[in-house]
Amino acid sequence: MSSLKSGEVGSRLEQFPRERLAHLPTPLSFLPRLSSALDGPPIWIKRDDCTGLATGGNKARKLEYLMGAARTEGADGVITFGALQSNHARQTAAAAAALGLTCDLILVTNVEYWEPAWDVSGNRLLDEVLGARIHIAADEPAAVHQLKILLEAAQDDGRRLYVVPIGGSNAVGALGYVGCAVELIAQSNNLGIHPSAVVNATSSLGTQAGLLVGFQASGSPISVRSVNVSASEERLQFAELRKICDATASLLDVPPPDNDCLRIESGFLGPSYGVPTEAMREAVKLLARLEGILLDPVYTGKAMAWLIHEIREDRLNKDRPVIFLHTGGSPGLFAYPQFLTEHPDH
Ligand SMILES: Cc1ncc(COP(=O)(O)O)c(C=O)c1O
Repeated sequence: MSSLKSGEVGSRLEQFPRERLAHLPTPLSFLPRLSSALDGPPIWIKRDDCTGLATGGNKARKLEYLMGAARTEGADGVITFGALQSNHARQTAAAAAALGLTCDLILVTNVEYWEPAWDVSGNRLLDEVLGARIHIAADEPAAVHQLKILLEAAQDDGRRLYVVPIGGSNAVGALGYVGCAVELIAQSNNLGIHPSAVVNATSSLGTQAGLLVGFQASGSPISVRSVNVSASEERLQFAELRKICDATASLLDVPPPDNDCLRIESGFLGPSYGVPTEAMREAVKLLARLEGILLDPVYTGKAMAWLIHEIREDRLNKDRPVIFLHTGGSPGLFAYPQFLTEHPDH
């Protein structure tokens, strides 16, 4: 099967149930001061932190399709999982509120970092404000057990809960990022730019899978450089990415991306998921002070740290623009005040 026009990929997306939750298209903007400070390729930013659902972020695009599926199945509530400071949990709570559905969040507390604000501020606070019912679990097996209890209780009450996968990352959720790829191709064409790559933070892999399927199906040469911020083993992550890409391509009836397009960049996670690093702090402060843009400590700060490093090492083509996909997460900054202000000079 040969590739389609990006407009045709867009038309295929129209066959799936969708709830309009995000402010789209998000802007694609040039970062003049960061580009000049790093003296590498022109750096552009895709502002998916501006999707608008309870402070924005990448989950809004996925939730449009996941909530469409929930509604089609006649659900009266949703349930999902995440870390205590999960952006996915916060945006799911917001989507459920907007659609009049109940929302149960199972939040797992096994991140290997803690400071006093961590349990009470940032996304954790917003989950409460958004009216989600919160269940705390010590680890993944405890979370699965909690899920079973909640599903059984709902069934006994004659209610129907839709389970949103962790990070919103299955084929249905990834459709949101197929849409983002189509949007990016149209915006780049309108601006007359020819980006070499999109750089993003990758964890549950749905954002990356959607972009890969969207670019490949549209015949776009833009590569996807996804920076690992999750604690999963590389081999398992690759297998999971392959699985989501294949399932997404199959839903859309387009060819799946080749193995050599599936790149997960390592080296910027630090000790583990959610544990802050010096390189992240530098990246967060650089973007804030040069461009007035807020990244986040868990995802985009680490992905931007990778991009800065690649440019400093002169590893990217200087003649072609690179696009940083800002996937949101700024509420997470409020959970790390001690770490972020430890060294006020940089
Ligand atoms: C701010 C932010 N960026 C990036 C990601 C990673 O996206 P994905 O889980 O689709 O890999 C997440 C996931 O939670 C996120 O919250």
